[in-house]
Amino acid sequence: MKYYITTPIYYPSGKWHIGHCYTTIICDAIARFHRMKGEDVFFTTGTDEHGQKVEKEAAKRGVTPLAFITPLVDEIKEMWSLLDVSYDRFIRTTDPAHAECVQKIYQKLYDSGDIYKSEYEGYYCVPCESMWTEAQLVNGKCPDCGRAVERRKEESYFFRLSKYAPKILKHYGDNPEFLQPKSRVNEMVNNFLKEGLQDLSVSRTNVKWGVPLPFDERHTAYVWVDALINYLSVLGYLSADDSLFKKYWSANLHLMGKEIVRFHAIIWPAILMALGLPLPERNYGHGWLLIGGEKLSKSKETGSEELTDPYELVKRYGADAVRYFLLREIPFGSDGEYTNERFLLRVNADLANDFGNLVSRTEAMILQNFGCVPQRGKEEAVDKELIALANGTFAKVESAMEKLNAPDALSAIFALVSRANKYIDETTPWALAKDPAKKDRLGAVLYNLAEVVRMTAILLKPFLTKAPALVLKSLSQDENAGFEALQFGGLKGGEKVEKLEPLFPRIDVKKEMQAVAEFVRANRKKSEPKKTEKKQETMKKELITIDEFDKVEIRVGEVVACEKVAKSEKLLHETVRIGGEVRSVVSGIGKFYTPEEMVGKKVVVVTNLKPAKLCGVLSEGMILCAEDGEGNLSLVSPEKLMESGGSVR
Ligand code: MSP
Repeated sequence: MKYYITTPIYYPSGKWHIGHCYTTIICDAIARFHRMKGEDVFFTTGTDEHGQKVEKEAAKRGVTPLAFITPLVDEIKEMWSLLDVSYDRFIRTTDPAHAECVQKIYQKLYDSGDIYKSEYEGYYCVPCESMWTEAQLVNGKCPDCGRAVERRKEESYFFRLSKYAPKILKHYGDNPEFLQPKSRVNEMVNNFLKEGLQDLSVSRTNVKWGVPLPFDERHTAYVWVDALINYLSVLGYLSADDSLFKKYWSANLHLMGKEIVRFHAIIWPAILMALGLPLPERNYGHGWLLIGGEKLSKSKETGSEELTDPYELVKRYGADAVRYFLLREIPFGSDGEYTNERFLLRVNADLANDFGNLVSRTEAMILQNFGCVPQRGKEEAVDKELIALANGTFAKVESAMEKLNAPDALSAIFALVSRANKYIDETTPWALAKDPAKKDRLGAVLYNLAEVVRMTAILLKPFLTKAPALVLKSLSQDENAGFEALQFGGLKGGEKVEKLEPLFPRIDVKKEMQAVAEFVRANRKKSEPKKTEKKQETMKKELITIDEFDKVEIRVGEVVACEKVAKSEKLLHETVRIGGEVRSVVSGIGKFYTPEEMVGKKVVVVTNLKPAKLCGVLSEGMILCAEDGEGNLSLVSPEKLMESGGSVR
């Protein structure tokens, strides 16, 4: 059986946070789960690299968009590698094969009449790359991110989205699996579909960094359509080799955060319908990781002391801890609060105390008393209960994973771990070890424990990528074992046992929380650009030619008189002699210089500005000042003695 599963393709904007890892880690666990069931899994992720945001950022830095974006793509690949994300294909929308697929799809839809030329008017949110109608704005701002939007009117190609609204509604009704959880269906129906859909503008003339339309090169493809097409282009759809497409389409699961459900559950099915392709089996819009009730987001500075950097989290606690937290802590489908404390408590309680302890106690007692796995022994009632639970756990995990519910799957596995720890307390192997007559019973108990450890390690393999393999190896078991190895009794007596280093060192949560908060504070200070730098960032202007600069006339002047401008704290009125000429100049330096200080100063003046009146006083030039990041001003003067009237270049 095939299983095609996708994550959204990520905006490679740098500044990764743990919220970003959420979708991909869940997908990875689902992909690994299906592989272990023996299914033919194809799991894809990638990067969404076109659009105005990238174009603008690259231009700010004076580099090409591709040069700007490639190191960020490498960073995200490194992040997935640190977290052991087992994707089969990584797709970039800048891959030429992807662009070709986008062009072929646009051509097909243009030829069939589903794409047509018109004009569009609306409100565009640049960070979200989304167009909104006036009615959709919330207080005049982007309804997704709350930021300011730009009014836009331009020639554009449109996709006949309106035509597909009834078909999509029908599809929701006929296929309850198609969009989950159910609350997302209600959102889509009430907020969008019920009223009918408007046709969608799917090309831009003002964005150059995108895929040019094959039938009109002045236009580039709308980034969201470009991005959605990755789910087909990654399979080679409409290419010379479309064997993957034939094998894997349609998607069994598109998983995504709830804010982008609209694109996946409305626009994407409409495009697929227009292409005559089968729709994905399931879309799931998961909840968000929050800090202080707000979505963890790269563009919002929360000012909190939570450590959200995935690289640092993996460095401190390991990939398994980060994966486990994400998969276990957030109730699936809902939002979940992220704090250092919750992270540390969860990892400590479940991984260090429950699982780590079970493994180390079991293996230590086996090594002390037998040197290798003892033989399976006579089973008592308490053993039978443990064995039944071990044999029944996979069914619970499978049922949870059918609902994509990793927290429930892990909770079933950890119920077995807890039961096994309780079994140790009940059977008291340390006491049995003191009595040579009870050696057989001790062997039976330790065999049962070793077997539960082995089964738990296999059950945990989709979720954790390091510890299960180490545990299986330490029991001389195949670390690639699939779920077929889950029957109790699979472990053979006599197998060699190797001592393991502690899998998850116990954390002193209080101390660690202090250390983390200090780290976050120190790091924030380091990474916060100084105000001056920030100012410089925003001050970067377009390059000009020497001829353009030459248009500005700048000369040395001498202040011969100065007074405050009435009713203004900021403005001073200077009389400036420039060579043989005297000018009236108004400047905003009243907070930094007194009129008395100004008299006699040599200043640098822009002399060919059009005269203007400031607070009713004529200004025939501009005195130049330097400004620091705090807004403090300092007059610019020639460093050596210069005659007034001298030119400045
Ligand atoms: N590029 C689009 C997707 C195009 S797919 C055709 C995009 N990219 S993203 O980088 O902004 O988001 C990638 C994934 O990260 C999304 O599933 C998004 O929901 C998820 N998350 C980003 N911040 C998140 C949280 N704070 N919490 C949980 N998931 C979050 O959208």
